[in-house]
Amino acid sequence: MTSNEKRIQLVNEYLMELNLEKKLTQHYKDRNILVTGGAGAIGSNLILALSELVGSGGKVVILDNLSSIREKKSWNVVPLDNIMFVQGDVRSDIDLKRVFKEDISMVFHLAAFFANQNSIDYPETSAEVDIIGLIKLLEYSRLGGIERVVYASSGCAIYGSYPKLPLKEDFISMHLTTPYQINKMTGEMYCNFYAHHYDMQIVNCRFFNSYGPGEVPGQYRNVIPNFIYWAMKGQSLPLTGTGEETRDFAYVLDLVQGLIKSGFYQEAAGENFNLASGREISIKDMALLVNETTGNKADLIFKPRRKWDTKLRLLASIEKAQKLIHYQPMIEFKDGFLKNIEWFKDNWDMIENMADFTPGMSSAVRNEKE
Ligand SMILES: NC(=O)c1ccc[n+]([C@@H]2O[C@H](COP(=O)([O-])OP(=O)(O)OC[C@H]3O[C@@H](n4cnc5c(N)ncnc54)[C@H](O)[C@@H]3O)[C@@H](O)[C@H]2O)c1
Repeated sequence: MTSNEKRIQLVNEYLMELNLEKKLTQHYKDRNILVTGGAGAIGSNLILALSELVGSGGKVVILDNLSSIREKKSWNVVPLDNIMFVQGDVRSDIDLKRVFKEDISMVFHLAAFFANQNSIDYPETSAEVDIIGLIKLLEYSRLGGIERVVYASSGCAIYGSYPKLPLKEDFISMHLTTPYQINKMTGEMYCNFYAHHYDMQIVNCRFFNSYGPGEVPGQYRNVIPNFIYWAMKGQSLPLTGTGEETRDFAYVLDLVQGLIKSGFYQEAAGENFNLASGREISIKDMALLVNETTGNKADLIFKPRRKWDTKLRLLASIEKAQKLIHYQPMIEFKDGFLKNIEWFKDNWDMIENMADFTPGMSSAVRNEKE
């Protein structure tokens, strides 16, 4: 079986196990759906699930500028008959007009300038993509009479520092420590404005740290893909802090579940909620698992905590999502992690080519200049 066939199988098996209610599958059938950022870590999984749900009578249109990886190639997008890939930018009217021509009725907005450190190094570009790009998308959605917009917010970002755990949706802090965090909170506020002023149906999904097949490592990427990458190269894993810090790691297909349900349930419209696993794992335990699974003999090394990284523990309450959209994470950490490793092994050559660790330059900015 090819790597692409495996990815399709993984998503379809997940959907089968999820046993989605008939009304939900009917809701998606034959639709044309826009996914911005559909070539990314989460988007490349979401499009497979949507492709299955819309069937041959509908299509999934991707708008992505391929800025998250080293080379501008859409290799992470599995080519299927009902998936249309448009290489373009959410800030560009020309590109937005192009995709909205496709008789779109729903939008999942996942494109973003990822993530904290990238936004510190390039605060203006990050605001242009995350805020101006979002406003443009909301405007086109309004003018196009889009039935529902689902926005990828971030629980790791918007809660700010010093919250009580588990993190609940009503906790608000102005103590945000990176432009990315500010952008994500601003993004939710714009979504709320459009929902309120224009009676649009918009959902703010607050993801916690995603992991799983589809995320290419890089200097601005998440800790799990980077640790797997370094371990597979036999290198030491650098822990920024003591290693006792915890994160709520969400398997990517559980996040996809939350997105699909957010696009359907009426109760989700106008709401914000966490999409996470609801369990916390220390970075050190995760790093040891990475080394054990890959057979990496190199030691862990400890580096000073990054100044912006003020959250020692992250644990989300998923009660609200459970209540509103019947969200239920299905994948145990170790199982999801093993699927992540398998995807790395299947795609190692490509991942090595696409991983962006170029010192002093973000692919998101470099690709724009080319
Ligand atoms: N991955 C996580 O742990 C996590 C956690 C919380 C929130 N989120 C949010 O979820 C969304 C998806 O995350 P991801 O991990 O898949 O990120 P990703 O970087 O892998 O995917 C984002 C995609 O958007 C594209 N993109 C970037 N700028 C663009 C632009 N100007 N125009 C068009 N496309 C553009 C990139 O090329 C990339 O393919 C993002 O909005 C992110 O902020 C992710």
